[in-house]
Amino acid sequence: MSDSVRTADDVKTLLLSCTGDSSQETMKFYDRWAQTYNQDVKLINYAASHLGVDFLIDHFTGSRREDVQVLDVACGSGGVAKLMVERGFRHFVGVDGSGGMLALAAQTGLYQDLRLALLGTQPLPAQTDGFDVVIIVGALDAGFAPVSVVRELCHAAKPGGLVCMARGEHRGAPARKYKEDLERELDLMEEEGLWRPVGIKQSDRYMEDPHLNPEREEDTEEERFIGGTVYLYRKSIRPSVQISH
Ligand SMILES: C[S@@+](CC[C@H](N)C(=O)[O-])C[C@H]1O[C@@H](n2cnc3c(N)ncnc32)[C@H](O)[C@@H]1O
Repeated sequence: MSDSVRTADDVKTLLLSCTGDSSQETMKFYDRWAQTYNQDVKLINYAASHLGVDFLIDHFTGSRREDVQVLDVACGSGGVAKLMVERGFRHFVGVDGSGGMLALAAQTGLYQDLRLALLGTQPLPAQTDGFDVVIIVGALDAGFAPVSVVRELCHAAKPGGLVCMARGEHRGAPARKYKEDLERELDLMEEEGLWRPVGIKQSDRYMEDPHLNPEREEDTEEERFIGGTVYLYRKSIRPSVQISH
């Protein structure tokens, strides 16, 4: 199939072929998808990176964006950095488990460093307390990055830094269970004093729903999309070494 005749339905069929059985399988899927990824996400109106970046920037209060160190986790082809650079951010380190996707991110020329790591299996390759902003878009889901990764995101942020997490509300029991587990972990980390919530945003339009039957004409515009959620946290400021008296 040539790219010129590729349709949204072709992309949705491809997405449904991603079993999500394991993150290793998901990485193989993304390695294959990398060839047409940038064109394909436009066809399905993938709005996740806009959703995450817009919400982050709405709450970003630091004045010198050009000095901010951003860790873009599950950076894929670099969609998040492309949007952030338009808004004045300059320093990006990207992490992803797919070499094919990292090759696309490298082509943007926006990242100071790109690191290959399968999150959940390998540790997040990022310095503790190293980044003003840590962002992950499109990878917190069953068969992608496990919930445990959110602690690593928090570790990588500087005290007072922001952690922004955007994800789609995909259908099915594994996705619902993942969301429950994720929100429990986010709350637990708040109770532990690791961070505090800055805000949460829900959107009706994260991307077109691959499960919808293209033959069904009565679908409304809204029904064609799955929703998405962005969680934004600020890491607590506290000494990393406890002083005993
Ligand atoms: C939907 S893309 C999102 C890319 C980018 N954040 C964006 O919004 O444009 C999901 C990305 O997450 C990566 N990913 C998923 N699970 C991962 C894991 N366990 N470890 C590392 N990367 C993972 C995939 O390789 C892919 O590049």
